[in-house]
Amino acid sequence: MADLVTRYREIFGGEGTVRVVRGPGRVNLIGEHTDYNGGFVMPMALEAAVRLALVPHRGPTVALWSEQFAERAEFTLGAPEPANAPHWLRYPMKVAEVLAEAGVRLAGFKAVVQGDVPVGSGLSSSAAYEVASSLAFLLAAKPDTPAGPAQEVAAPHGLTTGKLALLCQSAEHRVGVRCGIMDQFISLHGRKGHAIVLDCRDLSFQAAPLPSDRATVVVIDSAVRRKLTSGAYNERRSQCEEGAGQMRKFDPGIKELRDVSLDLFKAHEASLSQVVRRRCRHVITEDARVLESAEALKAGDVERFGRLMNASHDSLRDDYEVSGPELDLLVTIARGVPGVLGSRLTGAGFGGCTVTLARPDAVEALRAAVRARYTKETGLEPRLWVSEAADGAAVEV
Ligand code: GLA
Repeated sequence: MADLVTRYREIFGGEGTVRVVRGPGRVNLIGEHTDYNGGFVMPMALEAAVRLALVPHRGPTVALWSEQFAERAEFTLGAPEPANAPHWLRYPMKVAEVLAEAGVRLAGFKAVVQGDVPVGSGLSSSAAYEVASSLAFLLAAKPDTPAGPAQEVAAPHGLTTGKLALLCQSAEHRVGVRCGIMDQFISLHGRKGHAIVLDCRDLSFQAAPLPSDRATVVVIDSAVRRKLTSGAYNERRSQCEEGAGQMRKFDPGIKELRDVSLDLFKAHEASLSQVVRRRCRHVITEDARVLESAEALKAGDVERFGRLMNASHDSLRDDYEVSGPELDLLVTIARGVPGVLGSRLTGAGFGGCTVTLARPDAVEALRAAVRARYTKETGLEPRLWVSEAADGAAVEV
């Protein structure tokens, strides 16, 4: 963090206290493609995060230096989008837009943006960036705000962190992905040592302690990068909406797939097209798996949790069709290691990462197995992290 403050001085020089805000990435343990169907998810926040080191000023200019792209870009609050704005500038611009519409009086700042959430890896670098940007704007608007968790930063603006998550989500929609609420929500509500079980319909949630003495969370990056905006994600979402619409004929109370019971689905699945039927089956069974996983966690049954993770992956691969050969290979390798409890793709899919639950003493064997097989079979360099659940977004300094 001290480094980031130094970086700010190197890039922008000048006077004024440098403040630092942080928005973490996340890994989703189970509950994939359920959030935009009003269902359940179980993510945890990561230590990996996007940080902004900023100095607020009174003018309307937001000047940013991106460490990742080694590029400076700026925009003026309330003014039309500058021509040739780099893609990475669009996130804070859209966050500014939604905050202004929500009544926050914005002020400009200069900031260095730095992140260690790998982009396009399914660990929600974009949500981390939106959330960190939102805290930067709230801080710039009230520069006396002390360091503290997001709740305390949002409250003086009359905002809850739930509302802030929704605003960051709509910023992402404006960038072009019709994402659900999971990523922005967990980035704001993460808790050290805990996963959260979130009801994406009413945003009620419970923190579930992770038994780190008996199960380690390992994230493995396949090194396959896909752009979420590629349309496949939005297409899945439309197929789910179509399925929910069809099911409504049989029960007018159905708003989203969350409301469709497995029994109702089974009674009427023949009326759906092949593809929509498979998409619905994934979402409906995945919701049930999240609820069962939450119970397994409460009971300390990590084996059951692992089996549910495996079932989740198989459903994402076969019914939702968002896996790929590399993710499948990582999962196969992991499942072959004694002491691995379960393994699945995490995030939207189409490349990115897997998440594996392993007994702590199996992690080295897992690392060795991935190293021995993955590169040989794919030519790609995987990366593996043992991940602790971290706290949610905050003003750090
Ligand atoms: C992306 C989206 C989330 C969620 C996941 C899939 O991460 O941003 O809202 O839909 O994909 O579970």
